[in-house]
Amino acid sequence: MSKLNTILVQAGRKKRYTQGAVNSVIQRASSLVFETVADKKHATKNRYKGELFYGRRGTLTHFALQEAMCELENGAGCYLYPCGAAAVTNAILAFVAQGDHILMTGAAYEPTQDFCNVVLKRLGVSTTYYDPMIGEQIRGLIQPNTKVLFLESPSSLTMEVPDIPTLVKVAREVNPDIVIMIDNTWSAGVLFPALSYGIDISIQAGTKYLVGHSDTMIGTAVSNARCWNQLREQSYLMGQMADADSAYVTARGLRTLGVRLKQHEQSSIAVAKWLATRPEVKTVYHPALPSCHGHSFFQRDFSGSSGLFSFELNQVLTDEQLANFLDHFELFTMAYSWGGFESLILANQPQEIARIRPAIDRKLTGTLVRIHIGLEDVEDLIADLEQAFARI
Ligand SMILES: Cc1ncc(COP(=O)(O)O)c(C=O)c1O
Repeated sequence: MSKLNTILVQAGRKKRYTQGAVNSVIQRASSLVFETVADKKHATKNRYKGELFYGRRGTLTHFALQEAMCELENGAGCYLYPCGAAAVTNAILAFVAQGDHILMTGAAYEPTQDFCNVVLKRLGVSTTYYDPMIGEQIRGLIQPNTKVLFLESPSSLTMEVPDIPTLVKVAREVNPDIVIMIDNTWSAGVLFPALSYGIDISIQAGTKYLVGHSDTMIGTAVSNARCWNQLREQSYLMGQMADADSAYVTARGLRTLGVRLKQHEQSSIAVAKWLATRPEVKTVYHPALPSCHGHSFFQRDFSGSSGLFSFELNQVLTDEQLANFLDHFELFTMAYSWGGFESLILANQPQEIARIRPAIDRKLTGTLVRIHIGLEDVEDLIADLEQAFARI
């Protein structure tokens, strides 16, 4: 059994996919041609088992990435989507019908919540939002028609780390057939091995750490054997696929993922610890620090940390203070994404967080700043933040 960095370098690089090169070929195709009737018959029969059939079912480039992701996350199959949001929404859609109910973390990525509030609602699927720190009490929220338990760890923005083994155990006790899925983007699928915790489907915005260079969008959903056929066929019916170039870039990103994550971890913890000493900062929400909700679960369940975290200031900044703080960074830039090689920063006011967290009682009293620590020198990043505090 190889260790993580070896798997990241080797996974999916079969001769059939590399054809003499180091990386997989980029096979762009809609039509995949058959020489004989027998070939066509064989391809049709094995169309979801790595045989070339039609572009939408994938080409050698897609198969290479899908196999690599299965090896990495220990899955039976991996479906590729054009972005992370498509992976989240199509994974849910694959398992619900009118009249069903899902349990969604109340601290999910905001568009995931919007999907539940708008699309699922329109389709007659109801959503209950739970506090990610609910633990055992999730039992009381599971209804006879609850088809999906959706997790995200750590939470978006507020970074809570749920007690996943307890949530999974209780959900399975109440309903062994419930489909449990997780938005596992923060861990890049490697720091938290979701499937070995009894989760059925591990979803990632590969856009973030898998790609790692902020230039490509892709979504991945790695499934266990129980859910794979349904996830794959329903997603296929929805016309979901990623293009070959994006699949290639994602597979290439895997080769450096291990070293990138190590650096994101080391630098983000250094910055988080420095922030914790600052008089302007009330609380640092970095899963690796005890001040983060669920830190002990993080220590127990995760093998390491990536580079995204947040901190709460000890005051609500005025618009002018916020602009002074955010507008003049030398290294940090403002963007809605994260997971690339570059450092990013965004801020949210407590009332904005409260608006998107109606199911959660923990109210913030200061401006929440989310940062992604990239691969720059950590001393330079700290100096940049220090100057920003001086500008408030
Ligand atoms: C936790 C999380 N999940 C999903 C997504 C959606 O990914 P994409 O932008 O690739 O659709 C994001 C994007 O920011 C995210 O932060």
